[in-house]
Amino acid sequence: MADLWQSAMDHAVAIARKAGEVVREALRDDRKVMTKSSSVDLVTLTDQRVEQLIIQSVKEKFPTHRFIGEESVAAGEACDLTDSPTWIIDPIDGTTNFVHAFPFVAVSIGFFVNKQSEFGVVYSCLEDKMFTARRGKGAFCNGEPLSVSDQEDIRQSIIATEFGSSRDPEAVDKIFSSLRNVLCIPVHGVRGAGSAAVNMCLVASGCVEAYYEIGIHVWDVAAGSLIVSEAGGVLMDVEGGAADLMSRRIVAANSRAIAERIVKEIESFSPPRDDAPPTKV
Ligand code: IPD
Repeated sequence: MADLWQSAMDHAVAIARKAGEVVREALRDDRKVMTKSSSVDLVTLTDQRVEQLIIQSVKEKFPTHRFIGEESVAAGEACDLTDSPTWIIDPIDGTTNFVHAFPFVAVSIGFFVNKQSEFGVVYSCLEDKMFTARRGKGAFCNGEPLSVSDQEDIRQSIIATEFGSSRDPEAVDKIFSSLRNVLCIPVHGVRGAGSAAVNMCLVASGCVEAYYEIGIHVWDVAAGSLIVSEAGGVLMDVEGGAADLMSRRIVAANSRAIAERIVKEIESFSPPRDDAPPTKV
């Protein structure tokens, strides 16, 4: 049977590559930095330009499809995942990295139908690595199949996480306690690429055993989550149970055992959901 969504996936790969060229070019120019929810939640004209480039090009080819885009939501659009074919876009995952030319910056495109992930594309554009996954068909980097690490002992593992962009003292305390707990299991090391999408691709590639974070958004993890599961990994909520991409909490690991071990060490909290109705003023 023909793969209904293959042409959409081919388009996503082509447009992610084009978006990556724009990002690489913009790195050579002046990067005018603006802020969103706080002084450390950054955005640039390139984020906005790349998101528009992707949305326009998809609209021309698939006029009935819907979108959830980081910068469109920041501009007031709803973050509403329906059963319709929906593209979930982070034009630059790792905006802070981009601003500082720290070399992990990704274009992330997830595609959902009936709220189920059909494909995910993450283009780590400074490394020139194109990560792709199609539901039921595996995960790849530049066409080579990916597989998670087979390490079963968390004490022999590297764990990825991030500090995120909240500076709320209570949240920061919990982030540091969790980090301390995980580090002192003890694990071989803790890393963070500064991009949730890249961290998830590192899990899928077998370079780190797990990645967890509280505070990410659906566009940061929409594509990477399928790449992890198609590479043989598991997704979980930070309190155990099923991962919920709108909840702003994720554990992505090579195995259920490692995910559950990390869950034991996390001091959880719940940021406002991405799909929460806007609060009335
Ligand atoms: C951010 C990155 C970062 C993570 C933040 C995300 P953005 O996404 O993925 O690694 O710690 O939670 O918001 O803002 O660069 O698209």
